[in-house]
Amino acid sequence: MTMQWRDERIILLEPDILTENHLPQDVHARQTQMKEIEIRLTPITKGRKPVNCWLHGRPGAGKTATAQCILRKMQKEAGIRGVYVNCWENPTIFSVLECVARELRMLGAEKLSTSFKLERLKKHLNNERLIIVLDEIDQSPPKERNAILYNLHDLPRVGLVCICNSEHAYFDLEERVQSRLNPTRIFFDEYSAAELYGILNQRVRYALAPTAYTKQLLQTIANLAEGDARIAIQTLKNAAYLAEKDRHQKVRQIPETTEVGWCYHRLPTRHPPIVSS
Ligand SMILES: Nc1ncnc2c1ncn2[C@@H]1O[C@H](COP(=O)(O)OP(=O)(O)OP(=O)(O)O)[C@@H](O)[C@H]1O
Ligand SMILES: [Mg+2]
Repeated sequence: MTMQWRDERIILLEPDILTENHLPQDVHARQTQMKEIEIRLTPITKGRKPVNCWLHGRPGAGKTATAQCILRKMQKEAGIRGVYVNCWENPTIFSVLECVARELRMLGAEKLSTSFKLERLKKHLNNERLIIVLDEIDQSPPKERNAILYNLHDLPRVGLVCICNSEHAYFDLEERVQSRLNPTRIFFDEYSAAELYGILNQRVRYALAPTAYTKQLLQTIANLAEGDARIAIQTLKNAAYLAEKDRHQKVRQIPETTEVGWCYHRLPTRHPPIVSS
């Protein structure tokens, strides 16, 4: 049954490549930010405390993807362990520590108090080097945010990469946390249409049949997405689904005028369902 369905696919050959969580081989047009982060984290490879980083910028600017690529690179090239924590899903110091313990496969750290968990983590790390990415850090309540950053920064040979949309979350921290953390702030500007075209072009090769799209289609989507890579990729995916549903051989050109709405619909949240069928 599944096979038959797959065989009918003539456009979208690998839908997974166009999902939110797919991590590309490398992040296109983010070499500057990659370099900036790497410079700050490099001391950890010599066993020294690295400089913390604070990544900020609009949604869809590639902050999460860049941080995850950095973790993968540091692991591969320098054997440094990395842990990714989403603070929207883990907004308290307790749940962040649980997440770290789980990722590090620490045994015996369940159901303990926060201070016990911290002690366990210190012991477990035993001066091992670790990078912790705290994504969506602004989604932790201020008190928890201060506790998370204060305590994790206190661990020797641990570097923190914090991510959020605006810089405000940093300036809202208690002064003593700001002073200890002292991160380098790295800005992710919106992508240009040309950069979005590059991102789409990189993905589409693995996701769609080569005959199913044109350069012009990618350019049109890149122009419409207003600097947001998430919207660009989702638009492409949804246009491909629609073309497949309508049994076209190609993803139809997206007109820039009235018909744009069927494939691209931006809501104020900036996380819209893009296609309505
Ligand atoms: N430079 C890039 N190269 C390839 N893919 C990218 C690039 N930038 C973003 N993407 C992809 O676009 C999508 C959104 O990117 P990402 O999640 O990194 O944005 P973000 O800045 O973290 O947004 P938010 O603030 O909403 O969390 C992801 O699927 C990501 O893989
Ligand atoms: Mg993100």
